[in-house]
Amino acid sequence: MKTIIEPFRIKMVEPIRMTTKEEREAIIRKAGYNPFLIKAEDVLIDLLTDSGTSAMSQEQWAGMMRGDESYAGSRSFLRFEDVTKSLTGMRHVIPTHQGRASERILFSLVADKGKVVPSNTHFDTTRANIEHEGAMAADVISDDCIDPDLIAPFKGNMDIEALERLIRDTGPENVPLCMLTVTNNATGGQPVSMANIRATKSLLRQFDIPLFLDACRFAENAWFIKTREEGYADVSLRDIAKEMFSYADGCTMSAKKDAISNIGGFLAVNDDGLAQRIRALLILTEGFPTYGGLAGRDLEAIAQGLIEVLDEDYMRYRVRSVEFLGERLMAMGVPIFQPTGGHAVYIDAGRFLPHIPAEQFPGQALVAAMYVEGGIRAVEIGSVMFGNDSRHELVRLAIPRRVLTQSHIEYVVEVFEDITRSKTSIRGLKFAHETDVLRHFTSTFEPV
Ligand code: F0G
Repeated sequence: MKTIIEPFRIKMVEPIRMTTKEEREAIIRKAGYNPFLIKAEDVLIDLLTDSGTSAMSQEQWAGMMRGDESYAGSRSFLRFEDVTKSLTGMRHVIPTHQGRASERILFSLVADKGKVVPSNTHFDTTRANIEHEGAMAADVISDDCIDPDLIAPFKGNMDIEALERLIRDTGPENVPLCMLTVTNNATGGQPVSMANIRATKSLLRQFDIPLFLDACRFAENAWFIKTREEGYADVSLRDIAKEMFSYADGCTMSAKKDAISNIGGFLAVNDDGLAQRIRALLILTEGFPTYGGLAGRDLEAIAQGLIEVLDEDYMRYRVRSVEFLGERLMAMGVPIFQPTGGHAVYIDAGRFLPHIPAEQFPGQALVAAMYVEGGIRAVEIGSVMFGNDSRHELVRLAIPRRVLTQSHIEYVVEVFEDITRSKTSIRGLKFAHETDVLRHFTSTFEPV
């Protein structure tokens, strides 16, 4: 088989800047060993997130020029509504400025003290928004799925039996809705099978509990269904995505991921009464329901992005480039969460740096070392992000959509060759300043 190439060529370039190792040592020290506090200009290869970091296409930029900035009923909103409704099949699609705005509005309407919101695994902002309302966010995933070494096609799946136990123990009246995160970002970017979505829905139906998709990476999930689940090889990505949404009663979406846009999101629901309450709250903080905190041009970019993301050549290249990085790291003995997910490679820093105990944040230590060694920025997903609840000490290398070439990825691999050679000299970290909520964003550290 020939190399799977980037199915696009480059029309506009954005320079990235080299720094010396000495400069980077000073920069990371000054940033309290927290890469969120580094200037982007001081980063060479930014793998912090795949969120909002995508390169837009010529059609998206053309849409930006066509953006209709009318306050109410703009043409751009109608295009956005048309594309999102026909994709999700939902009766109401309400634009928001990003995923967490959808989460905040949704959970402030349905969650409060005594309520439990299950998910295969909640993303950190989803969990924080649920807990902010006094409700409990429950992750319902089997031990197999969080075993980093297990090779299985759908390790993002909901544990259906555990979900049934949770609903019976909690009382269905205390479960306002159930989420499914596709793909499951907090556990290795792993996909959820169509069979599992269907089984989750049929269980919830017995208890009259609505199913919501956290649809940020719905298209990557659809690709894994197409390539891994029986019966879907000849079904188009769009039809697979439509089937996924057909089992849901609503969804939250961050357009910063699989809508290949730099900002935006939406909240979609079938329930007319809930939609009315969402719109009322939207007007308070986000804006009028035909723009929801976005410019008309953003709505155009999102509508176009949602079409392009379902192109099979794009998705084949996308998933392959992530897999390529994972293969090369594994070949040099770097332990990763297997198999590679849709948008990122997750390094098992706990096992890569066994001399650093969890209390000394091996993931954060590796993130700092990657920056010093090669100017690469990544994010810890472990004890810094999740505290004592963390099951793993991971470092996520998220790949922005359509931004990097293969030689950028090969450079990352070379930096890891250097890190691997000298890894016993990497030291653990402790908090210099610890913040309360979502502490990975703003806390600072110092070497132990
Ligand atoms: N749900 C999931 C699964 C996410 O990955 C994110 C964001 C959100 C919700 C919130 O969306 O950022 O638009 O408010 N994830 C980014 C990341 C930040 O780096 O994984 P948002």
